[in-house]
Amino acid sequence: MDKDRKRKPRLVVSTGAGISAESGIRTFRDADGLWENFPVMDVASADGFARNPELVHQFYNERRRALRDAQPNDAHKILRELEKDYDVYIITQNVDDLHERAGSSNILHLHGELMKIRSLSNPDYIEEVTEETMATTPATRGRNGDLMRPHIVFFQEAVPNIEPAIELAQSADIFVVIGTSLVVYPAAALLNYVRPGTPIYYIDPNPADVGGVAGVTVIREPATQGMRTLVSMLRGGEAGK
Ligand code: OAD
Repeated sequence: MDKDRKRKPRLVVSTGAGISAESGIRTFRDADGLWENFPVMDVASADGFARNPELVHQFYNERRRALRDAQPNDAHKILRELEKDYDVYIITQNVDDLHERAGSSNILHLHGELMKIRSLSNPDYIEEVTEETMATTPATRGRNGDLMRPHIVFFQEAVPNIEPAIELAQSADIFVVIGTSLVVYPAAALLNYVRPGTPIYYIDPNPADVGGVAGVTVIREPATQGMRTLVSMLRGGEAGK
């Protein structure tokens, strides 16, 4: 009975584009990444949207079509399976829905959600993107007639979910970072909120320099293999238990 009641260790995971790379979703800053092919300030900034909303809608509709054809990979699935033994919370910079489709329970999107659009005049009015919306490119009007925008946090905009994300980082018993270049703030700063002494793992085949953060174990592997390595490390070391 006591054993059943024991609190599961809290595993807080911060994911970036790299976790979805093996699902066929392009990252932003790798070779042939999205920002090499599309001017970021045209398609993903508040100014760019004000200048040319049709271009921005077209860009995100292309991303939606790529996402529709993609499936969660083993890294997403292993995160779901870890819920058996850990209280797993995912903070993601990704706008895809692959964590949701893998079945994870607790997902906080820092940079918005690709499959949603929201009203320009009423930010609380949010619609799911449908096949129909994607077909009628560009999806500029919602079902209520409002002009809509992607439900994406553009450059030059505040990150509304950063406070709950910081609280999650502070509450971690184990902190895991997967597939992010750690260049976009404030997401990149979450590592600094992890309590001293907390084990931190960073899975990335080409990791950023995290020399300034104590206690980071770098797993220099793609996300799927890296997650398998992480699971055996957690089992072997009983980290955080
Ligand atoms: P980046 O494109 O900046 O970085 C991708 C990271 O994934 C790099 O560190 C790669 O080494 C790593 N990577 C590549 N393949 C991988 C694999 N198979 N497994 C694991 N890691 C792999 O993407 P983010 O850091 O997520 O924001 O970018 C942060 C933000 O910048 C995005 O959320 C987006 C972008 O502008 C918005 O659009 C608002």
